[in-house]
Amino acid sequence: MTRRIFSGMQPTGELHLGNYLGALRNWVALQKDYECLYCVVDLHALTLPQDPSRLARNTRETAAAYFAAGVDPKRCPVFAQSAVPEHAYLHWLLSNHTPLGWLNRMTQFKDKAAKNRDLELLGLYSYPVLMAADILVYKATHVPVGEDQKQHLELSRDVAGAFNRHYGVDYFPLPEPQILGEATRVMSLRDGARKMSKSDESDYSRINLTDDPDAIRRKIQKAKTDPHPISETLEDLAKRPEADNLVTLFAALEGKPKKDVLARHAGRNFSGFKKDFADLAVAVLSPLTAKMRDFMKDEAEIDRLMKEAAARARPLASRHVREVKDIIGLWT
Ligand code: TYM
Repeated sequence: MTRRIFSGMQPTGELHLGNYLGALRNWVALQKDYECLYCVVDLHALTLPQDPSRLARNTRETAAAYFAAGVDPKRCPVFAQSAVPEHAYLHWLLSNHTPLGWLNRMTQFKDKAAKNRDLELLGLYSYPVLMAADILVYKATHVPVGEDQKQHLELSRDVAGAFNRHYGVDYFPLPEPQILGEATRVMSLRDGARKMSKSDESDYSRINLTDDPDAIRRKIQKAKTDPHPISETLEDLAKRPEADNLVTLFAALEGKPKKDVLARHAGRNFSGFKKDFADLAVAVLSPLTAKMRDFMKDEAEIDRLMKEAAARARPLASRHVREVKDIIGLWT
């Protein structure tokens, strides 16, 4: 079976260091060994209110970040989810194999849903089914994501299995999550108990991929820590969420294991460490930010690349939908 990767990000605002280290950087590394499809999941973004005048632009900027990080458009199609209608079509078919009990267990829904469930929208509830459809419409076998998507990936596997069992076929592969690197769950710079997120109201909680060096330095300087020096051991560090997060980020940016960072920096206080950390973050992110700006100067070129990519991705999706319709007994 072809080893095929599918992954995506929502165009709901600027991408941050968590998106980069938890996912995007791995996408770039994996493109050499797999057939890859990388999507900007604009249909998923509709589960929260979006400004129509911003949405298309955010989709383009998200694609620009993929390219700037090193996703090669010749190798991997980078396209908008809404440009391949088969995602939404398969979502409907799969929703008939997804018990509500499975969706009720989704922690992201529980976190995002308002207190009054009656007012919650169906889209937010069935979000993970659309995600399963994104992956399965290409019969992708591997999905590189951050740790927060693990539960959604398990649901995708369950839905694929339920479909296969129901029709007595071995049609959908059960997609494997690829949660790779040191920084699989990057936490907020202001609160070690919350993940770094686009939706956090404090901009100081995250480093955006578009931040300039001054902003990066300021945010790292203000990052929450505790008064103690850097731990000697990983066990001790694990008890200090904010300190652990900074050491994890340092290790991920350097591309070295966390224990190597401790071996070199244990016993130092955080004020000195933060200066080194800021230098490292600026060195890694500045070229990426500069490339993103360059790409955004030629919006027509990004649009051309994305259109061409959708035209490359769609035949595979539509072939699979035809096969699935045939299995189900729908008119094809
Ligand atoms: P999204 O847009 O929230 O995030 C995009 C990717 O970034 C990872 N990520 C993080 N990794 C580490 N630390 C963090 N703080 C952090 N925040 C985000 C996410 O795990 C993700 O890999 N539902 C998905 C988008 C999606 C998708 C798919 C992904 C839709 N369909 C199919 C894979 C396959 C999401 O909202 O990601």
